[in-house]
Amino acid sequence: MLRQAMLALSKSRRAERLVTTSPLTADVVARYVAGRGAGDAAATVQELTRKGLLVTVARLGEEVTDEEGAEAAVGAYLSLLDRLPAGADVSVKLTALGLRLSQRLALGHADRICAAAAARGLTVTLDAEEHDTVAGLHAVHTALRREHPDVGVVVQAYLPDSLDRCEKLSGARVRLCKGAYTAPGAYARRADIDRSFVRCLRVLMAGTCYPMVATHDPRLLRIAATLAVLDGRDQTGYELQMLYGVRPAEQARQAQLGARMRVYVPYGDDWYPYLVRRLAERPGNLAFFLRSLVSR
Ligand code: FDA
Repeated sequence: MLRQAMLALSKSRRAERLVTTSPLTADVVARYVAGRGAGDAAATVQELTRKGLLVTVARLGEEVTDEEGAEAAVGAYLSLLDRLPAGADVSVKLTALGLRLSQRLALGHADRICAAAAARGLTVTLDAEEHDTVAGLHAVHTALRREHPDVGVVVQAYLPDSLDRCEKLSGARVRLCKGAYTAPGAYARRADIDRSFVRCLRVLMAGTCYPMVATHDPRLLRIAATLAVLDGRDQTGYELQMLYGVRPAEQARQAQLGARMRVYVPYGDDWYPYLVRRLAERPGNLAFFLRSLVSR
């Protein structure tokens, strides 16, 4: 219930106005968001890289409503790429590249970002968003892979067809996560989502994909490590991914143990929906958020 309410709030323009203008949210934002500009993101990347962590950098921003907005997002990604070290990844939301305006437009924009990334020794992963964009996401991913075979895609385990998706993806970089939105027919109980996550993980680990296991859940991390051993994958055969600001000590510990541990580093002005989705996952941080609302 609380999670549903928070996710509804993540789409509320009124709540966004209240929260983004409140100084009280600054601490929470700083914990989960690397800063406003690409320079801030680059500084964070440098710090994480020094600790032996890999990165995927995401420019915050969703749902552009015109072609100019999509073009601006591409421009921002192209200049971000110049600031990242080889081996880094960027995470891209197709709705920021115009997916809701036209699939063709988003494909063209994503193609430009993938080409520029490849020229710099970087990779691209396509984030998964609201359920009504998932078919478009996979269509764009399939088309992009003809030219850019290493472009990655996200599968959300809360969707009942996630197992089917994993079975169909062959040789791809696949980030498996639980799913941060809501969707009709999606698994809602934690146990069901976790079971689906494990079913997908089994398929990815046993198959030809490169699994990117995106979770902070200690139980799922243990299962991933066990499946990797059973399937004969060494630590270069898959990676773990966690969000910037979430379980940083565990991120460092995994890297020290030799795991490929990649941190998702978001930056940008449009942090509100991202932050509220994080708070929906972690009700312990809600106090900060509510205080920023009632202090107005
Ligand atoms: P969950 O939130 O259920 O937490 C499970 C357990 O992890 C907790 O019980 C606790 O033990 C531990 N834990 C979690 N947070 C903690 C904290 N702050 N401190 C200590 N322990 C903590 N979603 C999506 O829909 N599309 C996408 O493209 C992506 N992309 C993405 C990239 C990356 C790198 C990550 C890590 C996640 C995503 N997500 C996502 C978000 C994802 O779907 C999911 O909402 C969050 O990762 C939270 O789910 P967990 O698997 O971490 O488990």
